[in-house]
Amino acid sequence: MEKEKRDNQTPEKQRGIARSKGSPYGTFAKADRVPPPPPILEEAYEWIECDEIDPASYSSQASHDLEAAHLWPSSWQMACRLEHIPEVGDHTLYEVCNLSIIIVRVSVDVVKAYHNSCLHRGTTLVEGAGNARFFQCPFHGWAWNLDGTFKGMTSRWDFPQVENSDLCLPQASVALWGGFVMVNPDRTAPPFEEYAAPLTEHFAYFPLDDRYISYHASQVIDANWKTVQEAFLEAYHVKATHPHTVRFANDQDCAYDVFGPNVSRIIQPIALPAEPLLSRTNESELADMVQRILPREDRQPVPEDVQARGWLAQRFRESFARRFRHDYSKDSDAEMLDTFQYFVFPNFFAFAGHAIPMAFRFRPWENDPNRTLMEVMLLHPIPADGNYETAEVYQLEPGAPWVSAPGFEMFGIVLDQDMANLPRIQRGLRAATHKKVLFSDYQEIRLRHFRSRLAEVILEQGGKKRSPL
Ligand code: FES
Ligand SMILES: [Fe+2]
Repeated sequence: MEKEKRDNQTPEKQRGIARSKGSPYGTFAKADRVPPPPPILEEAYEWIECDEIDPASYSSQASHDLEAAHLWPSSWQMACRLEHIPEVGDHTLYEVCNLSIIIVRVSVDVVKAYHNSCLHRGTTLVEGAGNARFFQCPFHGWAWNLDGTFKGMTSRWDFPQVENSDLCLPQASVALWGGFVMVNPDRTAPPFEEYAAPLTEHFAYFPLDDRYISYHASQVIDANWKTVQEAFLEAYHVKATHPHTVRFANDQDCAYDVFGPNVSRIIQPIALPAEPLLSRTNESELADMVQRILPREDRQPVPEDVQARGWLAQRFRESFARRFRHDYSKDSDAEMLDTFQYFVFPNFFAFAGHAIPMAFRFRPWENDPNRTLMEVMLLHPIPADGNYETAEVYQLEPGAPWVSAPGFEMFGIVLDQDMANLPRIQRGLRAATHKKVLFSDYQEIRLRHFRSRLAEVILEQGGKKRSPL
């Protein structure tokens, strides 16, 4: 008896083996009325050692400086959507720490990226987004063609030391994926497809090219970018932070996967409570509870003997088709209901599925290790009639509730619960006297994956001088 009691209180020592008492995600997704495509059932959990993260790494200038020097200049990042630069000459900026990169549509099907720094004395060539036939520096008037070749300067006779051919704008690597323009400041970077495998393979089933930004909001948060981002890498916090969701969203039997060095995923099942609540919830209560997410006119009386997931998936298909003018008839129940969130190292999140059609991007704000620019985009399918308008970014004032941002009336409730934690997490990390944060083995595997990859990149790029841990 005593031994049994002790064993129950002692976590399994073999790392990465223990799981919740419920069924793995795949067991009920496979049983759905419209079953999911293969990537959804793929399992790729692997335990990663990462037990030495120093709380100071979330706030120290030294950690920030290492990231500024070695992480951001060598990583693939989401710069914009193609819809932001639809016409030739359209350009926008992607900035993080000291990097400033111009993204420009050079021709109908070519997008290039240049470092935004004049080759004369460094002035930025553009500020913000716009359309240009060429780029001209405001200081002394040097100019570049859209393809990055040098166009000319005043007093050409006074610079005998350079040829025009030496004055092409330095480029960043560019890749187009799912309607996103991905950039890597490093021209020698491995191709995005290889870096982000198996993203392309998986999203072949969930195309994002045929979506558009229906809503887009941003906010500067009083916390380090890793603190903020890590709050979205796990569902372990759901029970304490979003308690109203656990009756219909299973926080305990989420699937956590790590795919290679740069991609991880969480799948959270909806319309299926976690095991402790399962016996207290019947299918018709569940169906009724979840359909309240939909507008009143899309709700229906719940039939007796309803099978909640299949019935709800159909309600969602019909409601979404009406509201977003798109055909969802071929999408699986899982894609209609569940949360599929993919992370691409270092700071980009893309969601497959339709219930939460989001993308996130997190960046340090103004080289401040204690502030982050957080962005959330909603990506709805381009309507069948082809009419849509790309949303401008709605900039929330620091501390303003996300529910006040257009399009975030519903998702904002959950985001605001997360926001309430963040300054406290940051404050507490700065106050820490303990030397290591503790990541769980399964539910926080994506934090292990992210932080161990970050350490690896900084060691690789920094010539093995110093780890940020
Ligand atoms: S700094 Fe750009 S032209 Fe002189
Ligand atoms: Fe959350």
